[in-house]
Amino acid sequence: MKRGAGSLPAGPPPGTRGPLDAARAGREFDRQAAAGQTRGMDMPTLRWLDGPGGPAIALLDQTRLPAEEVVVTCRSVGELVAAIRRLVVRGAPVLGLAGAYGVALAAYQGQDVAAAAAALAGARPTAVNLAWGAHRALAAWRAASPDTGNRPPAGLPLAQRAAAAALAEARSIAAADAAASAAMAVHGLRLLPPGARVLTHCNTGRLVSAGEGTAFAVILAAHRAGQLAKLWVDETRPLLQGARLTAYEAQRAGIDYAVLPDAAAASLLASGEVDVVLTGADRIAADGSVANKVGTYGLAVLAQQHSVPFVVVAPLSTIDFSTPGSSGIVVEHRTAAEVTTLAGQAIAPPGSAAYNPAFDVTPGRLVTALVTERGVV
Ligand code: MRU
Repeated sequence: MKRGAGSLPAGPPPGTRGPLDAARAGREFDRQAAAGQTRGMDMPTLRWLDGPGGPAIALLDQTRLPAEEVVVTCRSVGELVAAIRRLVVRGAPVLGLAGAYGVALAAYQGQDVAAAAAALAGARPTAVNLAWGAHRALAAWRAASPDTGNRPPAGLPLAQRAAAAALAEARSIAAADAAASAAMAVHGLRLLPPGARVLTHCNTGRLVSAGEGTAFAVILAAHRAGQLAKLWVDETRPLLQGARLTAYEAQRAGIDYAVLPDAAAASLLASGEVDVVLTGADRIAADGSVANKVGTYGLAVLAQQHSVPFVVVAPLSTIDFSTPGSSGIVVEHRTAAEVTTLAGQAIAPPGSAAYNPAFDVTPGRLVTALVTERGVV
């Protein structure tokens, strides 16, 4: 792979969102979240609500994008678990935040914190960050509430202190995720040639992260450095995370992008229009097998066939050393309706069966490079 220049300019270029916009948007997000499910603009993907609106977790509803920016406010772990299952919030790193903040929510509400962590961890099986985030916040809560089993310690100050410990852990996971995202962008950028034409799958940007995401953070860095010629966005059937979400993020950043049907990736790669394939990951096993959005494996095979580098960008929190290889990765299967309907309309005869794995597993031998916050493997 060719190597390009790697330094980032200090601020966002025209057309992208700067810190002032972000602060204003955050206030607007809080106002809307406190009011319930309301239309909004330019919002963070997940936010903890204190004060009169809280404790609660406010989510930018990813099922409604790009048509509408709507906040869903989860005031209980049950609501949060349902939102995770419905993909209101989705994508590996932010699922880690959802798991951790969900445990803090249970602690502030005096619920069974271990049961809440288990419910959150089991809401979706493949993205390891979800269980990892929930268990980290649970461990912080337990460390601050000794000898009380799974119930908050008696007495308000102690219970508050334990809940605050879980919340502090969630905030520290968020800060680390934002830093990891920035570091992955720097490391990943060095792998891209000047004038890179990048093909990506699913959605890996701000919507999945406390920072700018994983693979999309690298794409943004390349765009800012003037190093990105074209972004090819797989639509990502059946739920269209590419067409709906990556295109939404790319358009807001002023990136030159085009959406393609997943099935067109083969001929696009054959035509020599792609310099590198960049994806994220939901779980990376100890042997380097990469679970990611269904269709990723096919792209990796195609990339090898056409001698195009296939690069995975993921934080260390997505590497699961306790899972030795691909057979240990549980792949979530979702409902037939996601395949047999499109935007609420039936596209297959009523009663059609469907095969709908949400993820597939790419063997490590097909991965040219893995970019983490610590560097490139
Ligand atoms: O089913 P989703 O939308 O949660 O799947 C998300 C993905 O597969 C992403 O590519 C993955 O989480 C990596 S993003 C950081």
